[in-house]
Amino acid sequence: MAFSIRTTSMASSYATDIATMHRKLSFRYYLLFIFAQVWFLVLTGSDKVNIKIVEEPSSYGMLNSYNAHNSYQETEKRLKMRIKPSNFSGPVHFHRLVGHCFNKTETNYRYELCPFSNVTQHEQSLRWNPYSGILGVWQEWEIVNNTFVAMVMGEGDNCGKIQRSVKVIFECGSKHEIKNITEPKTCNYLLVFLTPFVCHKHAMLVYPTLSEELQTEWNLLEGQLQQNLITNKGYKKRLHKIFERAGYCLSPEQKERISHDATQIEEKAQKEEAGEFATLAKCSEEYKKLKDEAEGLRTLLALNTDTVNNDNNRGGTHVDLIGDREMEYDALN
Ligand SMILES: *[C@@H]1O[C@H](CO)[C@@H](O)[C@H](O)[C@H]1NC(C)=O
Ligand SMILES: *[C@@H]1O[C@H](CO)[C@@H](O)[C@H](O)[C@H]1NC(C)=O
Ligand SMILES: *[C@@H]1O[C@H](CO)[C@@H](O)[C@H](O)[C@H]1NC(C)=O
Ligand SMILES: *[C@@H]1O[C@H](CO)[C@@H](O)[C@H](O)[C@H]1NC(C)=O
Ligand SMILES: *[C@@H]1O[C@H](CO)[C@@H](O)[C@H](O)[C@H]1NC(C)=O
Repeated sequence: MAFSIRTTSMASSYATDIATMHRKLSFRYYLLFIFAQVWFLVLTGSDKVNIKIVEEPSSYGMLNSYNAHNSYQETEKRLKMRIKPSNFSGPVHFHRLVGHCFNKTETNYRYELCPFSNVTQHEQSLRWNPYSGILGVWQEWEIVNNTFVAMVMGEGDNCGKIQRSVKVIFECGSKHEIKNITEPKTCNYLLVFLTPFVCHKHAMLVYPTLSEELQTEWNLLEGQLQQNLITNKGYKKRLHKIFERAGYCLSPEQKERISHDATQIEEKAQKEEAGEFATLAKCSEEYKKLKDEAEGLRTLLALNTDTVNNDNNRGGTHVDLIGDREMEYDALN
């Protein structure tokens, strides 16, 4: 009986893994599966068993897979925004950007901006676990001096105690395109987006986009400021309220709630992940099932072997079917 088991850098990738219990479990499961297959083949008496264990897929530092069947694409899909993006708001012509994404590769990272949705970062590397993450989720406009100045994409992936965030600012360009992205402060990114949408002098003015009602309120507010009936601070605060009502900005309370809810969901998810320890029992249970199955097969084999011997090695039993073929287990593809 000849065994040749080829493994492809599984040990090395596994050793460097920031393995969570979850992952260990799925790996154990996987080994168990292979073990059961080998055992089955041993039991069935094949002449040559050629098992190819393909490199265990990496988790890309994101949510780990319970079963080992995942691919790069699936991992990309598994990136999950911590919060729901705000609804579209702002200059009407910007609505045409909804649902579109723009990417740029810069120093080993591909950045992707999906206006009014998210900004993501994808490490361009053949490393087993290139980083992919969400830098920010669409939240609100930054308005300065009656002008839409920046799209604020906040509540991105955790970065120590803070969350990643991106400020998207605009420059006139002949087409929609990311000009550059920088990180002025740790985990706070600045993305310059070129677009024809801002080329007109008045393209980003806030006042004309407001409803008549809100425009009237703003007019009153201006008057009160002129007559010194309100302080500059009071003016700013009330102006912000107008922007909140227009849906351009979030109130401090809304922001706080969004952030709080996201944290809660995360804590819940963490608990659930910790709850994966419960699957240790499940793992044992599954192990027992496999063991029982193997016992059953052994019994079956004993019967079959008798049959085979009696039939002078003829008769299309399990033994023949498996033993005659060189089996390659490409368990992951
Ligand atoms: C980012 O936004 C785009 C466009 O809405 C969407 O297709 C994509 O799934 C979003 N990415 C994530 C990780 O949710
Ligand atoms: C976003 O739009 C949906 C559908 O139009 C609406 O039900 C929801 O209340 C809006 N969300 C906010 C925060 O305005
Ligand atoms: C990146 O953008 C280019 C166009 O600029 C597009 O052809 C390409 O498919 C995009 N890549 C990804 C991965 O979205
Ligand atoms: C505010 O914007 C107006 C035009 O929209 C401009 O003339 C003025 O200089 C700006 N003021 C500041 C302080 O940026
Ligand atoms: C990115 O673009 C901004 C605005 O045009 C420019 O000031 C800055 O120098 C650029 N940064 C890099 C790293 O190219």
